[in-house]
Amino acid sequence: MFARIILTVAFLVTPFFFSFAQQSFVGVQTCTMCHKSEKQGKQLSIWENSQHSKAYETLLTEKADKIAKEKGFETKAAETAECLKCHTSGYNADASLLGKKFKIEQGVQCETCHGPGSDYKSIKIMKDKEKAVAKGLILYEKPEELCVTCHNDESPFYKKFNFEKSWAEIKHTIPK
Ligand code: HEC
Ligand code: HEC
Ligand code: HEC
Ligand code: HEC
Repeated sequence: MFARIILTVAFLVTPFFFSFAQQSFVGVQTCTMCHKSEKQGKQLSIWENSQHSKAYETLLTEKADKIAKEKGFETKAAETAECLKCHTSGYNADASLLGKKFKIEQGVQCETCHGPGSDYKSIKIMKDKEKAVAKGLILYEKPEELCVTCHNDESPFYKKFNFEKSWAEIKHTIPK
């Protein structure tokens, strides 16, 4: 009886509590409902054709497990936080912050770079840059500083990073 009362209270309080909680991940499919046409800048196909969309799958390969083992990790690459941190998003987030359409398998995705989108994804907010940023959208004045948080020699397969060349490969601006 007592336990039941506590549970009821917890249930009533939870939604209230979560309204103040962190933004959650909505997944690539949610962002790209609006970011895929030619007019919008084809962000979906540019991302799909980039290695970023395959970054998690890469961790499922023998090559990945081999390097994880050599580095002294006892878990498979795709279960190792020290690998996941550059190869996907959301692996260390509370399950309550992972939306139904969010997939860790989608690797380095929109929200890895632009921040979890639950609070800024609505059209009203998206159209207003300041509001979107206030709701968690991350933009970059100097994209290179973002890139080198992952493209650096902590990566076991680090290739010297050339920003101009790499950015040209994944650039996804909205046409003027
Ligand atoms: C309901 C449609 C819609 C959804 C869903 C949506 N966006 Fe947007 N987004 C827009 C519109 C409209 C703009 C403004 C485009 C413009 O300025 O021409 C925009 C702008 C942006 C910008 C550029 C902001 C700026 O002013 O520089 C980024 C970055 C962005 N969206 C990322 C995302 C990400 C990441 C997601 C998923 C979490 C997402 N969007 C989901 C419609 C949407
Ligand atoms: C969250 C970590 C992360 C960030 C931030 C990041 N990348 Fe990457 N990037 C990766 C990973 C991991 C791969 C390798 C994926 C694979 O091959 O499985 C990769 C691969 C690439 C590739 C394919 C060629 C190659 O080097 O393997 C390009 C091009 C690239 N990134 C460009 C960029 C640019 C430009 C930026 C900054 C605007 C950026 N990346 C930011 C993690 C990141
Ligand atoms: C600091 C970020 C970072 C960390 C940590 C990281 N990676 Fe990567 N990984 C990258 C980037 C970036 C690339 C793309 C190579 C490049 O352009 O430098 C990559 C590429 C790879 C590749 C593809 C290599 C190829 O050329 O075929 C494998 C496999 C891989 N990583 C496995 C792992 C494993 C396993 C771990 C954990 C032990 C790990 N990575 C940790 C960033 C990282
Ligand atoms: C590897 C990091 C990375 C990934 C992944 C990524 N973006 Fe971006 N995005 C950037 C950077 C850097 C910029 C340019 C600087 C800025 O506007 O913040 C940018 C710019 C944008 C813009 C604004 C373009 C403009 O003309 O101002 C939109 C819209 C956008 N991204 C949407 C997306 C969507 C949708 C996805 C997923 C399909 C995505 N991004 C994936 C890093 C990324």
